[in-house]
Amino acid sequence: MRKPIMAGNWKMYKTPAETTTFFEKFLPLVEKSEHCEIVICPPFTDIAAAVTAVQGTRIGIGAQNLYWAKEGAFTGEVSGPMIKASGCTHVLVGHSERRQYFEETNETVLQRTVAALEAGLTPIVCVGERLGERESGETEAVLSLQFRAGIGLLSPEQFARIAIAYEPVWAIGTGKTATPEIAADAHRVLRAQVRGHYGAAAADAVRILYGGSVKPDNVRVLMAQPEIDGVLVGGASLDANSFASIVNF
Ligand code: PGA
Repeated sequence: MRKPIMAGNWKMYKTPAETTTFFEKFLPLVEKSEHCEIVICPPFTDIAAAVTAVQGTRIGIGAQNLYWAKEGAFTGEVSGPMIKASGCTHVLVGHSERRQYFEETNETVLQRTVAALEAGLTPIVCVGERLGERESGETEAVLSLQFRAGIGLLSPEQFARIAIAYEPVWAIGTGKTATPEIAADAHRVLRAQVRGHYGAAAADAVRILYGGSVKPDNVRVLMAQPEIDGVLVGGASLDANSFASIVNF
């Protein structure tokens, strides 16, 4: 059985004070939620407040991005060892907003994934097709390429330590959730890639999360799909009640 990961991606929202307030409300609501792993990915500037707030709980804190060098003259960047030392356990890699606005490619996604692993972080590597790609029937080809060029070059040992998030770009922040069937189909494509590259045991073990307009009222049908091993939630993770009801689906 794969233990679900319920992850929140706060994007560029919240101050440290708002982070503290969020956890004051959120922690009591998920105290008994042992059926899943909970991870929250706040902006860099909120990590210290978040790590302090979750001390002594099972909740993990993740960054939203990292740079692949360990240190150096890279103004504005933050490295894996820095993120690890600040108390994070996870990091998002290759989110579609990074690919779309900050020129991330499958190659840089791979570099960042390797850097995260070297720092001892669990990367949640995001893949997903754009609307035009889905409409022209390219979904499977796009996912397969993102896998082959961005994830499938990891060693089996490295691969065993990552999670994957399938986030169709057309479903992110749009209110359009993929139907459970569409999501499960994409997850099957990805799991087949895993099987081809790393074998059946790795395909059985890897957790593939769904992301894109997940809300308290659609999380159940999504999580009812055996292919879906958790969710990556943007907008609906900003509110403690809303994210707690997602966690406790
Ligand atoms: P959304 O974002 O839940 O607001 O659609 C998901 C994500 O970008 O991870």
